[in-house]
Amino acid sequence: MIIIKSEKEIECIKESSKILAETFEYVKSQIKAGIKTKDLDRKIETFIIKKGAKPAFKGYNGYPASACISINEVVIHGIPDERRIEEGDIVGVDIGVKHKGCFSDAAYTFGIGEISKEKEKLIDTTLLALYRAIDKAQIGGRVGDISHIVQQTAESEGYNVVREFVGHGVGKKLHEDPPIPNFGREGFGPRLKSGMILALEPMINEGTYNVDILDDGWTVVTRDRKSSAHFEHTILITEGNSEILTNSSLYEDFDSKLKLI
Ligand code: MF3
Ligand code: CO
Repeated sequence: MIIIKSEKEIECIKESSKILAETFEYVKSQIKAGIKTKDLDRKIETFIIKKGAKPAFKGYNGYPASACISINEVVIHGIPDERRIEEGDIVGVDIGVKHKGCFSDAAYTFGIGEISKEKEKLIDTTLLALYRAIDKAQIGGRVGDISHIVQQTAESEGYNVVREFVGHGVGKKLHEDPPIPNFGREGFGPRLKSGMILALEPMINEGTYNVDILDDGWTVVTRDRKSSAHFEHTILITEGNSEILTNSSLYEDFDSKLKLI
């Protein structure tokens, strides 16, 4: 069942999302070559707690950390550990916040220092897919419109979308209906209505869409070990364009790039 949020719930999820947006600005200031992913995770956790909120992923289905930190061939759910981030890596950081019982969920893929042209294009295409998906998230549209535009954006560049993991509703729970696949058919699936809050999250692979889960039970890697990128925003469907609740200064550069497309 897809929940239409009340005004009160919307305010609550907005507050949670604002803390999450600030957390990403903080991550941008801290992420650099040489840092251990475990240390970055600790900083993220401390930041969220200082804001009076909780890291939503910690303990979720037994997940052991506050953030998922996914480097290069890791698609999602990378567990922070002793690995150091290196120049040239692309690093997906996925964070959830719980505040006053309300969840928000977002992810951003950072390029560390100079990255290859190939990695840069993968990142830009994934972000473009997210923004095109957000553009489709309009009253009267359908979930399939979102799925289709992500798939089309990825495949038109020769990339592939991950099949096994999907976007979702978000609110009083981290994962709510509807599931939002990153592939599908326009005009199909549930209708989008005012007051729905969704986490849209394209995961795009440079090579095959097939993935494997490592023995830790979490880490999702591309089967061919080529790179993957992931972006995610929590959005509110409302009159006109949907509202991006996890927007922050991280997207400023991209906004100006988008205007040129
Ligand atoms: N953002 C992810 C999602 O939407 C990660 C959650 S997995 C967790 O599903 F277990 F780490 F919380
Ligand atoms: Co999510």
